[in-house]
Formats: sequence, structure tokens, C-alpha cells
Amino acid sequence: MRKKIIAGNWKMNVKPSETAALVTGIAEATKAFTNVEIVCCTPAIDVAAAVAAATGTQVSVGAENVHWEASGAYTGEISTGMLLDAGAKYVIIGHSERRQYFGETDETVNKRATAALKAGLVAIVCVGETLAERDAGQVEAVIVRQMKEGLKGLSAADAANLVIAYEPVWAIGTGRTATPDQAQEVHALIRRTLGELVGVEAAESVRIQYGGSMKPGNAAELLAQKDIDGGLIGGAALKADSFAAIIEAAAKA
Ligand code: PGA
Repeated sequence: MRKKIIAGNWKMNVKPSETAALVTGIAEATKAFTNVEIVCCTPAIDVAAAVAAATGTQVSVGAENVHWEASGAYTGEISTGMLLDAGAKYVIIGHSERRQYFGETDETVNKRATAALKAGLVAIVCVGETLAERDAGQVEAVIVRQMKEGLKGLSAADAANLVIAYEPVWAIGTGRTATPDQAQEVHALIRRTLGELVGVEAAESVRIQYGGSMKPGNAAELLAQKDIDGGLIGGAALKADSFAAIIEAAAKA
């Protein structure tokens, strides 16, 4: 049995001074749903405030990116050790916005994921095709490439701290969601590919989240799919009530 994992991706929203109220609101509204892993991935500058507010609750905190070097002359970057020291336990890696706007490649995803897992963070590694790639019939090729390059060199032991997020780029922030069947098809492909990379047994234990306009109204049908083990939530994670409603759907799935 894979424990469902619902993670919020706050992106570049929520100020440090607004963080405690949101985390506390989420923790209060989700107390009953103890069978779901709940994570808020926040801007790095919010992590400390989020950890302070989450302490003693069932909510955990993550970051949205991390550098692969341990320390040194990398102006503007944040290391795994800094995140751990601040109390973060998770980190999103390779989000499509980072691939699109910040030059992230499968190679840098691999470096970040390797460093994060080695440091003991849970790595939420994002994959997903663009609309042009889907229309051109390239979904399988794109996902398999992102997985094989991005997860190169990882072992079955690494897989214990690995979460994959399938986020079709055309569904992110657009209000357009993949149908449960469309999503399940890619999730099954991801699990098969993981099996080739880390072995079938380890692949069975890895949680695969869906992300892209997941909201209270569509969460239950997505989470009912065999290989959909959670969600990575953008817009709907910025309000305690909508995020809690998705967590409730996961608790009942
Ligand atoms: P969305 O974002 O829920 O606002 O579509 C999801 C994500 O980008 O992680």
C-alpha cells in the first residue's frame, strides 16, 4: 500500500509574513486525515516560517528547488544542507517552469535529484510533456527520456525517498486537467520505466503524483486511478479550504 501524498507547490506566491497563517489553516483543516502525507513546498524564504508553523502538526515542509553542490561560490543558490538545517524534508526538482524559464535540463535534474537523495531529502521529481509534444504523439518518448536521463544512476535504495510528479505542461495553471484515463496511462508508463531503472519491487513502492489543475472538483476521480498516488497542487494549494478538500479526497480514495 502506497500512502497518498498531497503536496502544495506555492511557486512564487505567499510572503514570509503570510506563511504561518496558511500552514496553520491547512493543519487545522486536515487533522482528521492522518492516512495522507501532507507537504507544503514553499519559496525558500518561507521555509523557516513554514517549519515553525508546521511543528507539532501532520504537515511537512519542502522547497521548490535546490542546488547540487554542498556549498561554495554559487551566488543566489541554496544547498541541501541549508534546506535540512531549516527543517525542510522535501524538495521539488525539475518543475516544468524551471525547465521553461530557468534553463533546467534532464542533466541538471539528475544532479539535483542525486544530491537531494544523497542528503536525505525526499525528491519530488517532475516530468511531463508539452501540448506540442502530445499532439505530435511524443508523450511516451518524452516521459521515458526525462525519466532515464533525470534519474540516471539512482538505486533501489534511492527510490525509497523518491516521488515522481507527472505534470502535463498543458494542464498546469490552465484549468485544463488530464482525464483520469489519460493520466493513468502515463502513470503506468512511469512505473514501468521506473521498474527498468530501479527494479520492479522498488518501483511499486514509489508514489507517483498527478499535477496540473488538480482541484477539489476533480481530485477524487484522479486519485481513484490505480497508479495515481497523490497530487502536486499549485493554485488550489494557496487556500487552506481548497487544499484541505483535496487532502480529504485523498484520505477517502
Ligand atoms: P496548478 O499547478 O495546480 O496551478 O495547475 C501545478 C504545478 O505546477 O505544480
